[in-house]
Amino acid sequence: MDPRGGSFLFGLRTRTTMHNHRQLCLLVMVALNLTPLILAQFPRECVTPVGLRSGQCCPSPTGVVNDECGSATGRGQCVSISADSRRHGPQYPHDGQDDRERWPLRFFNRTCRCNGNFSGYNCGRCRHGLTGPNCTQSISVVRRNVMQMTSAEKKAFVTALDMAKRTVHPDLVICTRRYQEVLGPDGNTPQFENITIYNYFVWTHYYSVSKTFLGAGQASFGGVDFSHEGPGFVTWHRFHLLQLERDMQDMLGDASFALPYWDFAIGGSECDVCTDDLLGARSVFDVNSVSPNSIFSQWRVICESVQDYDTLGTICNNSETSPIRRNPAGNVARPMVQKLPEPQDVVDCLDLKTFDTPPYYSTSSESFRNTIEGYSAPQGGYDPVVRSLHNLAHLFLNGTGGQTHLSPNDPIFVLLHTFTDAIFDEWLRRHAPGEAVYPEENAPIGHNRQFNMVPFWPPVTNAEMFVSAPGNLGYTYEVTWPSRPYTVSEIITIVIVAVVLIVLVGSGVVACGMRARFYGTTEGLEPLLGETFRRYSEDDRRMEKSQSVV
Ligand SMILES: *[C@@H]1O[C@H](CO)[C@@H](O)[C@H](O)[C@H]1NC(C)=O
Ligand SMILES: *[C@@H]1O[C@H](CO)[C@@H](O)[C@H](O)[C@H]1NC(C)=O
Ligand SMILES: *[C@@H]1O[C@H](CO)[C@@H](O)[C@H](O)[C@H]1NC(C)=O
Ligand SMILES: *[C@@H]1O[C@H](CO)[C@@H](O)[C@H](O)[C@H]1NC(C)=O
Ligand SMILES: *[C@@H]1O[C@H](CO)[C@@H](O)[C@H](O)[C@H]1NC(C)=O
Ligand SMILES: *[C@@H]1O[C@H](CO)[C@@H](O)[C@H](O)[C@H]1NC(C)=O
Repeated sequence: MDPRGGSFLFGLRTRTTMHNHRQLCLLVMVALNLTPLILAQFPRECVTPVGLRSGQCCPSPTGVVNDECGSATGRGQCVSISADSRRHGPQYPHDGQDDRERWPLRFFNRTCRCNGNFSGYNCGRCRHGLTGPNCTQSISVVRRNVMQMTSAEKKAFVTALDMAKRTVHPDLVICTRRYQEVLGPDGNTPQFENITIYNYFVWTHYYSVSKTFLGAGQASFGGVDFSHEGPGFVTWHRFHLLQLERDMQDMLGDASFALPYWDFAIGGSECDVCTDDLLGARSVFDVNSVSPNSIFSQWRVICESVQDYDTLGTICNNSETSPIRRNPAGNVARPMVQKLPEPQDVVDCLDLKTFDTPPYYSTSSESFRNTIEGYSAPQGGYDPVVRSLHNLAHLFLNGTGGQTHLSPNDPIFVLLHTFTDAIFDEWLRRHAPGEAVYPEENAPIGHNRQFNMVPFWPPVTNAEMFVSAPGNLGYTYEVTWPSRPYTVSEIITIVIVAVVLIVLVGSGVVACGMRARFYGTTEGLEPLLGETFRRYSEDDRRMEKSQSVV
């Protein structure tokens, strides 16, 4: 058995006393099939003054005229964008003040719609899970536990992340001003910048959680979040990871590259992925820093100038500032976040039957989504002081990775979220819910089923990500899920059944012996059988009682 799986089970064993657990080894190795969807702020070729004024972003994959969206070869066509106009929850009381409302209509109202298996902002590529010149070959990648990778695989992953931190995104550029100021002071200088692949990953997250600027001298409005505290939490982060994974595949020229995951549900106060061969050990010079032996000690964060964004109404850009800060288990002021989630928390959360519950917010109770996100106890009950699962893993890091607007700057974010996505995918597999359980309206702004997730381009809805990954998105997880330990009442039941069986077998042996000895006499047999049956029915009644508790 692999070391990771071993310690997973060991943790469980010590917590749940003696009893052996069911070894449900659920290797998620599924038939890889075709799928829907697309990728990507805005393609470089669309952010010209003319492009912005037209509201249309329909480039050609071949770059020739009269081939927008590859229409000349039947790949796709330029269509108007539909954006969700259903009611959203009461959390966001403004209207028309935020560029992200009815995304992406403030910027563009026409985009490519690709035919068949084609995809991408210009229909020049294939949907997730397909490849080949005509996008007819299936392809799937396997996301694995980072702790189970070989040293060579770990090294390759760390090197790839570092390359992504330094490689300019080939297609996408970021907007660094609100729409109102997007054409610059002279009205003819689009305010867009190149950004690296990894920093794009950080920027999209920042953009989705940033406050609404209400005007100079006014406090910005913080009660808005297009990627957290709502049903879109799981779908948004799923697409976020897919985008990074595909960008890295392209960068590496390796279609089989898969993001690994960090099984953070190991309890205890040790960050097992915080080693220099992975995400970086703790520096011996500063408890809040990453070891100089790790490449990540050289990384600098973006999106840190919150003061500027909130008072000037500017937007995060690609300029890098301070190093990553991280102090695993170091938040002495908040003991509750000094320990990682337990395996049992995952078991409990996967048992929840309802995807999300009104008000579809961070106050939802008995909601799978609010539980995996970590605002509820792992068993589903909402409790304002609880931080569990995903939230707990973030807060445990006590640093860059624990602050929402900055968190993806710490690359642990990637692995923390692939594991969160693995739990989401396992929940989809076990409960097979169908699209209807995802709320169509009254979720917080950004979280309705048909809302285009902010700020991805071309438009992709929450619904498109609410599908099982192996059959639709071209990836699977290789995970051994922890199994539920026996409860006290189950243990009692098992003991009683065992005792009854022993008694039955024992008395059967005795009875047979008696019968053999007193064969032919009814006096010797009757009282003994009677006694045995009486005892059995007593035990039987007790057993039923304990079973009803299970
Ligand atoms: C699309 O956007 C352009 C540019 O902002 C605008 O002129 C046009 O009226 C819009 N079309 C629709 C249908 O909203
Ligand atoms: C792709 O489609 C074109 C046009 O239908 C065809 O000529 C070509 O053989 C196909 N290529 C492959 C690899 O299937
Ligand atoms: C899309 O790909 C699948 C899987 O290879 C194939 O069966 C299907 O025919 C393709 N669809 C189109 C429209 O090419
Ligand atoms: C952005 O990157 C592209 C491609 O690498 C390059 O052609 C372009 O000049 C860059 N733009 C700026 C403003 O640096
Ligand atoms: C990038 O953002 C920083 C922080 O807000 C700001 O000081 C800087 O001027 C910005 N750079 C550009 C080119 O806008
Ligand atoms: C880290 O923990 C300290 C208390 O030990 C706390 O004051 C600080 O706010 C925490 N930092 C983050 C980013 O959570």
